[in-house]
Amino acid sequence: MRIDVITLFPELVKQAIEWGVVGRAAEKGLLQLECWNPRDFTLDRHRTVDDRPYGGGPGMLMKVQPLQDTIRAVREQSPDARLIYLSPQGKPVQQAALGEQVETGPVIFLCGRYEGVDERLIEQEVDEEWSIGDYVISGGELAAMVCIDAMARLIPGALGHEQSAQQDSFSDGLLDCPHYTRPEEFNGSKVPAVLMNGNHRQIQDWRDRQSLGRTWQRRPELLEAVELDERQQALLQNFIDEFEQDS
Ligand SMILES: C[S@@+](CC[C@H](N)C(=O)[O-])C[C@H]1O[C@@H](n2cnc3c(N)ncnc32)[C@H](O)[C@@H]1O
Repeated sequence: MRIDVITLFPELVKQAIEWGVVGRAAEKGLLQLECWNPRDFTLDRHRTVDDRPYGGGPGMLMKVQPLQDTIRAVREQSPDARLIYLSPQGKPVQQAALGEQVETGPVIFLCGRYEGVDERLIEQEVDEEWSIGDYVISGGELAAMVCIDAMARLIPGALGHEQSAQQDSFSDGLLDCPHYTRPEEFNGSKVPAVLMNGNHRQIQDWRDRQSLGRTWQRRPELLEAVELDERQQALLQNFIDEFEQDS
């Protein structure tokens, strides 16, 4: 998958593919990252990349001309890519949209800085705006890196164990179940016995019940978007009954 990033801080963004599973995916050639710096497209000798906002007020905006020329240059290299502007005003990024993007193909991330980007440039060039949450960070780079990492995990062959992305939270619309490793007893707390009995069906039932129960407790709104089959409904009801008995 090809990802192009327009950023004033390419060295920062390149870190996204240096480590861990994402680094290995890039090494395997599953992920190709190219960074483009609008500063390289400036026409003045100071290489200016910011400009004053009309109407006054604090803060600067990204200068239009270098950004426009950068976008044109990237599009020449990746004509089929969707251009996504990382913005706190964008659509909240979700696992499903990231998965769709991985299937769709190449993407160009535009990282804002200062107070952001001229609205006309967004209207004319940007296909979609994505937000990583209801808070404001100083630039789109960290947001792009979050998306790159999350998408890389979804590229077939990127993860060591093919199944682990499928078991992650949100992959089936639910939160993941809790996990345990050695020691068997930790500060007086034991690993649930079912995980050690070797009965794979019981283990799967336990995991699914926990996943459903956790989602019900922590993110009940997610359950509204998932169609549960009879087995899942029974597991969730069992979890709720037990929870209500205990409380
Ligand atoms: C300081 S912010 C500008 C915020 C803008 N004035 C606003 O309030 O909507 C600079 C850049 O950081 C990026 N950014 C900030 N918060 C973000 C978020 N939650 N998700 C994605 N990108 C974000 C955007 O690219 C934005 O142009």
